[in-house]
Amino acid sequence: MENPSRRKLLMAGGALGALGAVSAATPAYARTPWTWSPKGSVAGAGAGADPRWVWDPEADELVAGLLDRGEVPKVNELLRTWKKNAQPLPDGLPGELRAFMEKARRMPAWTDRGKLATAVEFNEKRGLYLGVLYGLASGMMSTVIPKEARAVYYSKGGADMKDRISKTAKLGYDIGSRNAYDDDGEMIVTCVKVRLVHAAVRHLLPQSPQWDQAADEDIPISQRDMMVTWHSLPTTVMQKLTAWKVPIPDDESAAFLHSWQLGAHMLGIKDEYIPATWAEANSQAEQVLDPVLAPTYEGIKLADVLLNLGSSVDGGLVSPHVLGAMTRYMLGDQIANWLRIPREPVWDSILKVGWKPFVAIREGLLPVPGASDVYWTLEEFLRQAVLLFLSNAKPISVEIPSGNRPG
Ligand code: HEM
Repeated sequence: MENPSRRKLLMAGGALGALGAVSAATPAYARTPWTWSPKGSVAGAGAGADPRWVWDPEADELVAGLLDRGEVPKVNELLRTWKKNAQPLPDGLPGELRAFMEKARRMPAWTDRGKLATAVEFNEKRGLYLGVLYGLASGMMSTVIPKEARAVYYSKGGADMKDRISKTAKLGYDIGSRNAYDDDGEMIVTCVKVRLVHAAVRHLLPQSPQWDQAADEDIPISQRDMMVTWHSLPTTVMQKLTAWKVPIPDDESAAFLHSWQLGAHMLGIKDEYIPATWAEANSQAEQVLDPVLAPTYEGIKLADVLLNLGSSVDGGLVSPHVLGAMTRYMLGDQIANWLRIPREPVWDSILKVGWKPFVAIREGLLPVPGASDVYWTLEEFLRQAVLLFLSNAKPISVEIPSGNRPG
């Protein structure tokens, strides 16, 4: 039988085509064939099937069962105590969930501990940029990835974006921490929990009338979507760092990639879709990320919430303006305009003129005497922005939702 999502998509395309609107409204992924070869993946081989039609069957079936049997609140309560990578799973979990999690928490054979140690150096040296990039480049980009924006908006967490952001930031915090994948780290735990959350969302969102009406698919969060979001994270970050001429030794660059390849694997993405090199990552991103970026009602709403996250601290006097200007600078005018981010004459020009010299000064590529106070204002602002996005991250526990955004 034909895949129901494909059917819905084709039906939507047909109806819109009849209205003469198909080229504008057909989702870009429907037009972009999957030609990326699994030879470029960490697996080095694979069937090459379009991940648009691949989800996470084992987790999805399992979590759907937990939800249908009303077991999720109990599971969440038990999992709240499960925090460290090497910690035994709590007693009392349903047997099939325990079996799944024991398997899901295992690191792949291609894990390279040496590279992970180098990734720590990279994360420490580049923590300031990484915080800002995860928050403003990746975070804001997620609002112009239509399928992600809709999934986030109509799921339970969409109603409380501050909480949702801090949970998402937890992953950014965990992957960048010293012991991310070590026994006393938390990245494996976070990934396995997020894998369960995504499986829950695949079961729950199709029951949301609002999502059903807005979305052009039947089941969200395919493996292709996962890779799209993945590219909004490490691939985009590395592209920006390169564009800013931040000097990064090859081994650190490869190590950073490795930590994210592992992240992808632990989130349940198949190895045959995970790029082996930055060149492969860039080519896959060109195929799956760039063409899907577009504004949506939901994304505009989410972006507005994100830009105003700091307003509770400064009453909206400075932070939304600077965050808006940073978004415009990092993602460009088109995306900023899609998100209806107002132009900020002062901050837009400061960033345009001052950002690259600021980076150069920080990196010791320009002599400091030429620097004006603006650079140090920027540095201070960056610290604040990083704090804003990452500070809440630590104590948060990722929980499996048992409902959608209230209608
Ligand atoms: C939940 C990260 C891909 C939609 C989460 C959470 C994290 C996360 C850390 C937990 C936050 C929470 O508990 O609220 C990631 C990463 C991804 C990825 C690192 C890819 C590498 C996606 C994609 C979509 C998506 C592709 C949709 C198309 C969601 C939704 C939730 C969620 C709807 C649940 C929010 C709720 O609780 O209501 N994700 N995600 N994610 N993610 Fe993802």
